[in-house]
Amino acid sequence: MLAVFVVVIVLVSQTAARYTANWTSLDARPLPAWYDEAKVGVFVHWGVFSVPGFGSEWFWWHWQGQQPPDQKCVSYMSKNYPPGFSYPEFAPQFHAQFYNPGDWADIFKASGAKYVVLTAKHHEGFTNWGSPNSWNWNSVDTGPHRDLVGDLGEAVRNRSLHYGLYNSLYEWFNPLYLADKKNGFKTQQFVMHKLLPELYNMVVRYRPDLIWSDGDWEAPDTYWNSTEFLAWLYNDSPVKDTVVTNDRWGAGCACKHGGYYNCADKYTPGQLPKHKWEKCTSVDMLSWGYRRNMKMSELMDLPAIIEDLVRTVALGGNYLLNVGPTPDGMIPPVFEERLRGVGAWLKMNGEAIYASKPWRVQTENTTVPVWYTSKGTTVYAIMTAKPPKLTLQLLGPKTSAATKVTLLGNPNPLPWAPVHPSAGLTVLLPQLPYSPGQAWTLKLDGIQ
Ligand SMILES: *[C@@H]1O[C@H](CO)[C@@H](O)[C@H](O)[C@H]1NC(C)=O
Ligand SMILES: *[C@@H]1O[C@H](CO)[C@@H](O)[C@H](O)[C@H]1NC(C)=O
Ligand SMILES: *[C@@H]1O[C@H](CO)[C@@H](O)[C@H](O)[C@H]1NC(C)=O
Ligand SMILES: *[C@@H]1O[C@H](CO)[C@@H](O)[C@H](O)[C@H]1NC(C)=O
Repeated sequence: MLAVFVVVIVLVSQTAARYTANWTSLDARPLPAWYDEAKVGVFVHWGVFSVPGFGSEWFWWHWQGQQPPDQKCVSYMSKNYPPGFSYPEFAPQFHAQFYNPGDWADIFKASGAKYVVLTAKHHEGFTNWGSPNSWNWNSVDTGPHRDLVGDLGEAVRNRSLHYGLYNSLYEWFNPLYLADKKNGFKTQQFVMHKLLPELYNMVVRYRPDLIWSDGDWEAPDTYWNSTEFLAWLYNDSPVKDTVVTNDRWGAGCACKHGGYYNCADKYTPGQLPKHKWEKCTSVDMLSWGYRRNMKMSELMDLPAIIEDLVRTVALGGNYLLNVGPTPDGMIPPVFEERLRGVGAWLKMNGEAIYASKPWRVQTENTTVPVWYTSKGTTVYAIMTAKPPKLTLQLLGPKTSAATKVTLLGNPNPLPWAPVHPSAGLTVLLPQLPYSPGQAWTLKLDGIQ
């Protein structure tokens, strides 16, 4: 009777747990478990910026925002477009005529990713869905005439992938935002009449599993009403139990407040952080959005991607790898090839990645660079280069008589010998199989 009573109290107090609109309260929310287990996601930057496809997704700002403007963008426009051509005139050329969300979702699924994050709205302010708060500057009123966000969501979820939405808080050229900025962010016209109504609507309509917030840094979180929004998101929204957020909720929030931490774009810590984090990075090293003039030498190759992924996961992070589709709605085949390569590598080595935890030791470089992950009492040692000889020395693990070593993808136990009585082992490797990512995983049982 008492036990039943206690259980009831625990259940009631759990369902009643509510968050208050302050960081102490919001930061204490446990991250929904799916996120840490997922480890790998695909990031998709798509918008009107994909039409010029020049420089980066920041094209509009570099061309007409920053002072002085980027001369490459200015001369590109004056050489190739009529005088007076304005950025919004790119929108009707955002046709997305080959956009098949099922094809995209098949590629994302084949990459081994467990979640997908699409730009619902980037800094240009154009929404890839029919936002009633973005009149004539959204993908239903102009350009594709289609709900790009909703259609991808259906296809992605149909393949059992989680669906996240990127949302920029600020909009470079929104007159309401510029007015608030002029007032030193003492007024909130933009936040009350544009940002928040749109953001609440987006959450209710698409029920994202993840909100990848961005564009926060010019103003404090109090200007954006971030804590009020997050308290609603965690307490009363339709995704309150599943949604995950990042840390871009106002100047000074990065690496400090919110859900998981991105810190900075492409940030990688040097050692194991205390807080869950995510590395976002892009196959095209120079841009997140599609660039029509990208070159092979500017792309990450597959071994570099796998090394980066392995390092990130060993250090407790998630890896969010970006591709930029064309304005026609195609994932450039070179990006598709990279994503399928990641999937091929994960097919053999995913046991060491998905739902893994960081180990006691994160890395060593005795024979070749090795990154460790763990699952229960099993430890995985991932080599990100081919050892020069068919032996590998590891100094981190402490062996015992019960120690067993195998190579993922090969059922036979491998011979090994201790280096010292208490620590380290030398493993005799088999002929290493072809690995698309040039990384191989040893599975170690019975070690400490
Ligand atoms: C934050 O909210 C919690 C829970 O309601 C409350 O106890 C705490 O005093 C608040 N902290 C601040 C700094 O307002
Ligand atoms: C995906 O769609 C197919 C066809 O409509 C359906 O049979 C299947 O159950 C869906 N799968 C998921 C996971 O929603
Ligand atoms: C924004 O924050 C202010 C001050 O905390 C609050 O009064 C207001 O209700 C909030 N509005 C929304 C839409 O969250
Ligand atoms: C591993 O050691 C080799 C040889 O000392 C060195 O060239 C390489 O940069 C190291 N790699 C890492 C990831 O530390």
